[in-house]
Formats: sequence, C-alpha cells, structure tokens
Amino acid sequence: MVGVLCSRVRVEEKALLETLRRRAIPFERLDEDQVQFRLGDPHRRYSVVLDRSVHHGRSLYALTLLNAAGVPTVNMAQVAQTCGDKILTSAAVAAAGLPIPRTVVTFSRDSALQAIEEMGYPVVLKPMVGSWGRLLAKINDRDAAEAILEHKETLGSYQHGIFYIQEYVAKPERDIRAIVIGDETIGAIYRAADHWITNTARTGRALPCPVTPEIDRLARAAAAAVGGGALAVDLLEHPDGLLVNEINYTMEFRGFVDGTGIDVAGRLIDYVLQVGANHAAVA
Ligand SMILES: Nc1ncnc2c1ncn2[C@@H]1O[C@H](COP(=O)(O)OP(=O)(O)O)[C@@H](O)[C@H]1O
Ligand SMILES: [Mg+2]
Repeated sequence: MVGVLCSRVRVEEKALLETLRRRAIPFERLDEDQVQFRLGDPHRRYSVVLDRSVHHGRSLYALTLLNAAGVPTVNMAQVAQTCGDKILTSAAVAAAGLPIPRTVVTFSRDSALQAIEEMGYPVVLKPMVGSWGRLLAKINDRDAAEAILEHKETLGSYQHGIFYIQEYVAKPERDIRAIVIGDETIGAIYRAADHWITNTARTGRALPCPVTPEIDRLARAAAAAVGGGALAVDLLEHPDGLLVNEINYTMEFRGFVDGTGIDVAGRLIDYVLQVGANHAAVA
C-alpha cells in the first residue's frame, strides 16, 4: 500500500491521487492533522510513502520516523533535511564541486554587514528555511543593509539571526526549473517574471525551456549531491554560466505541467512504485 502524506489537496495532490485511482494502485492518505507515529513500532502498513506536506518540519519528522521504521519515502528524510535548508543545500552542492552564487553565512549582524560590504551591492538575503520567495531581500546599499540586518536580528525568530548572504545574480528576468526524477531530467521550464523574484507562486509564468546538455548534467549532478530522489532543481543564468540556486524536495508542479505538457504526476507515481519495489527486493 502506498501512503500519501498531505493535509491540503492542491492541484498537484489531486493529480497524484487521480493517477493512483486510475491505475488501481492501493493507497491511503496520511492526513497530517490525524496521523500519529508510535515510536519504535515497525510501520508495516505502507510499502512506500510519498510526502506532499507543505510544512518542512512535518515533512522532516514524518520522513525521519518512517525511514526509522523501515518505510522508504519519496523523498528520503536525509534529502528533505538538506533541501529544506538553504544553507545545507548550498553547502552540499558546493561540496560536490558544482557552481552556486557566491554565498556567505554569518552568525552576527556585524559580521553580516562586513561580508555584505566585501561582496559588493546588490546582495540578496534569504531565510535559511522558507519558500515562495517569502522574506527575500535584495539590498542595494549600506543603509538598507543596516536596516534589514537590525530588523532581522531584533524582530525575527532565532533562524533570522543566522544570515545567508548571496551575490545578486544579474540574470535575465527568469530562472530555470528542471525536474529530476531518479536519474533522469524529465524536463525544464523558464519561470519568467517582471520582478527579480520569479516564483510561480508570485508572478512567475511558466514557459517551456529546452533541456540542454548543460541543464541536464547540472540538474542531475545537483540532485545527486543532496542524495537524489524526485527533485526540482532551480538554476540561475549568470553571465558566465548556470548556477544552482536551490533544490525543492516537495515541488509544486502545476506551472511546469502547463509549460511543458509533461505528466509529472504520472512520472512521480512511477518513481514512488519503483522506490517501494526496490526496497522490498533488498529487505
Ligand atoms: N542570488 C540571487 N540573484 C538573483 N535572483 C535570485 C537570487 N536568489 C533568488 N533569486 C530569485 O528569487 C527566487 C526565489 O529564491 P529562492 O532562493 O528560490 O527562494 P524560495 O525558496 O523562497 O523559492 C528565485 O527563483 C530567483 O528568481
Ligand atoms: Mg525557489
């Protein structure tokens, strides 16, 4: 039996559940508001669980507890842990020798300001955990840097006192999202916007993007660097070449489907079944 962890059924979950139904695959929803994990019990009910939570903390603990109970998941807990945190993601991608925007992490306001001045304006500040482009700040001068750093340290929760500072990449008004499932790049889109933040959850429009050999190689290598699975790899077009910006482990894909016509839900379910079967074969 396939488990699907989710609370809200969005367009993506609807497509996934439809696919399971259409193929007559036995499945059960693990409703986040209802689910209970009894620690130490083996979880024999599910052969594999697909995580569709929008809540990083819930995903992380559910996947960790399921994996500890011998249940394989898409994605695995370790992958969620890395991808849910921009610092860990950038560290893993850079350690694999792949190109990322210049990034500095500091733990105090003074060292953050120093790093920003050394990097040169504009810079981008991001919360280490977050999505949909929320709380991203593009800082153009020292006055703005001082104000934002003070606000983050004074008004933010503890994680806003850990500063993720990145060079602003003068990209065209778009970024690239490639979806990697297993060891294949299944497709890519441009997310075009008239704002430097190009998330489709904001104003980004999905346009088809040809999967060049460079996109394919970089997307697969970045996915492998964080442990592999079903992942959306976001790339920025720096004048000198592509850079890996971030990797999403519970991707939204409605824009991608509109832009490419690729049946992401179908590909994802194929992969989930394959992960379950591989696990059963070695267990
Ligand atoms: N360093 C950067 N330079 C230029 N644009 C950036 C940079 N970082 C992020 N962006 C833009 O902002 C968007 C959101 O940033 P991202 O790091 O993916 O955060 P989130 O997790 O909120 O999606 C990206 O898709 C990209 O368009
Ligand atoms: Mg993003």
